Amino acid sequence: MTCQIIALMGSPIPDGNCGKLLEKAISGAKDAGCNVVRVDVPSLKFSPCMEHFYCEKNEGCMINDDFSPFLKRFKGADGFIVAMPVMTMGVPGALKSFMDRFQVYFMAKYVRHMPVITKEQKKWRKTLLLSIGGMNIPNDFDGIKLTMDAFCDIIDAPLYGEVLQNDMDNIKDITTRPEVLQAAYDTAFEMCSAIITDKDKYQPLNE
Ligand SMILES: Cc1cc2nc3c(=O)[nH]c(=O)nc-3n(C[C@H](O)[C@H](O)[C@H](O)COP(=O)(O)O)c2cc1C
Repeated sequence: MTCQIIALMGSPIPDGNCGKLLEKAISGAKDAGCNVVRVDVPSLKFSPCMEHFYCEKNEGCMINDDFSPFLKRFKGADGFIVAMPVMTMGVPGALKSFMDRFQVYFMAKYVRHMPVITKEQKKWRKTLLLSIGGMNIPNDFDGIKLTMDAFCDIIDAPLYGEVLQNDMDNIKDITTRPEVLQAAYDTAFEMCSAIITDKDKYQPLNE
């Protein structure tokens, strides 16, 4: 049974604190038996959604850029890890624009009633959220959580778990918090093990 995970990175610093947290989760996913592809979203060249509304009546998106292959790649994936720092109380701009381009999936699911993701796939697809914030304030992750709830619904991969750490301006180095890194590893390992079990149970035999 193959298991394909897409790990989305929302920070522009590949090996910063967010990157270190993501790498731990990727190790957990691989140790559980999944293939993982990491995508550093800020390094992609793509347009935000321009509201052409092509996808309201047609399959796919009329914009052709670095985002385009992900419409197919997201259909083929079994799970997702999404890592991001809080920026201006929400999802960093490049990653938010990436998420917005999945309006194609939204239109297919809710307007054209021809969902991209099959009923079977919905039984095993899952998402893990990793996020860090600089500030030590209440509600630091509220914006991210609202967006993630909507995104997970649109891509049909419900939120399995989250590992959140605020106060990074004081903590400075996430490696001084081994319990947070361990939580990223453990939650990814558990999620990916559950994906493999569920996929085994629900995947039609002829696929
Ligand atoms: C443009 C920008 C906006 C930010 N806005 C917030 C914010 O609203 N709340 C917060 O807690 N931290 C905020 N931060 C701090 C980052 O979340 C924090 O520095 C994080 O540790 C960065 O992780 P990284 O270095 O791995 O990318 C902001 C940072 C930047 C660069």
